[in-house]
Amino acid sequence: MKALLILFVLMNLDKLLKTAHCTETQDQVLSITPKTQEQVDILKNVSTQYETALWQPVSPHYIKEDTQVHLFVPANSSETVKDLLQRYAITHEVLLANPNELIEMQTRNDSGDPRSSSTFYERYHSLEDIYFWINRTQQDNPDTVKVILIGSSFEKRPLYVLKLSVNNRPNKKAMWIDCGIHAREWISPAFCLWFVQYSLSFYQLNEDITNILDNMDVYILPVLNPDGYHYTWTTNRMWRKNRSTNRGTKCIGVDLNRNFDANWCTEGASDQPCTEIYCGAFPESEPETQAVADFLRSHKDIVQIYLSIHSYSQMLLFPYSCTLEETENHSELLEMVQEAAQKIQRHYRNIYTYGSGAKTIYLAPGGSDDWAYKLGIKYSFTFELQDRGRYGFLLPPSHISKACNEALLAVKTIALKVVEKTQAPA
Ligand code: ARG
Ligand code: ZN
Repeated sequence: MKALLILFVLMNLDKLLKTAHCTETQDQVLSITPKTQEQVDILKNVSTQYETALWQPVSPHYIKEDTQVHLFVPANSSETVKDLLQRYAITHEVLLANPNELIEMQTRNDSGDPRSSSTFYERYHSLEDIYFWINRTQQDNPDTVKVILIGSSFEKRPLYVLKLSVNNRPNKKAMWIDCGIHAREWISPAFCLWFVQYSLSFYQLNEDITNILDNMDVYILPVLNPDGYHYTWTTNRMWRKNRSTNRGTKCIGVDLNRNFDANWCTEGASDQPCTEIYCGAFPESEPETQAVADFLRSHKDIVQIYLSIHSYSQMLLFPYSCTLEETENHSELLEMVQEAAQKIQRHYRNIYTYGSGAKTIYLAPGGSDDWAYKLGIKYSFTFELQDRGRYGFLLPPSHISKACNEALLAVKTIALKVVEKTQAPA
């Protein structure tokens, strides 16, 4: 008996040791608040010199005093990073003690489990699953859904847009929605799927979506950055950019939301390929950017609303992000997002901040929303969905339905306003 016990202990020694040291040896996400300029500088250094992934802000450049930094710290740099924080007395706490557990929750496929109450739309899906879903959605709804191939990614994956159209009214206008421009923002593609499913299920049942679809077609690009998205499923959950190779460096990827031709690569973007906000070699240098830009250029007379879905931080943004100047219809756009944010607060008790991108977060040139606006799509928006930093990019599947429903409410509010404005006699 004793011998058996000893054998058991020996066999599980590595496991027991691992659990004993779990807080020291696991990946973590830290929330860090620098209080002095010296601490800011140390933190900028830490996030660039060590193997970490900055969650918030998007680039070390934006780290400033008294503002929370969310930093993903992998196990192997944990000790060094924590030593440095301690040495310089930088305030920090553990935001996520076990991000890997959350990643496991996000990637677990419980579709085979009959006890699971979550539906297909309340889970995250791999790129392969999403391609499969696109195909099935078209086959199941041959009268309303068309699939359009608008181009392909750097690694030659197809970029499919779903066109939802319930009638052939002459001079019909349209709304464009893209998701997944940033690879790690998984709630974004989940929203595109949610939106399609909701539209198909509630047309002629819900008054708002019926009114919207009767008056406009909707073009939906569920995954704008398929290479990056695939990479977050297979290799690095924290990846943001696309996966193109860059001349003269090993660093991979361009920030597709800095690659559009709107004050391209000015302050708020970087010409350094190794940064997370690399603008690319020239505007529209990336095949993903070019495909979207070409499609919108050839449909600019019918597309009235441009909408790009991101996460996280709960914001409803509109142009400009590339300059502090106001657009010509600034107050109109402000009114629309304000109404949307109020509705979200009333129905879902969740706070969304709103305003022009540059004034609400930071200068970020080369974004798709600004480019679409300059093309002539005057109702142009970027939504940042849940959450505000509790889980960050690792939002558990159980939160998908609320995150999508509140974003849907904002989309409806804005689309209905545009329908109303368009129908009003001139
Ligand atoms: N978090 C987004 C980004 O950094 C904000 C997008 C706002 N719009 C923009 N054009 N930058 O890309
Ligand atoms: Zn984003």
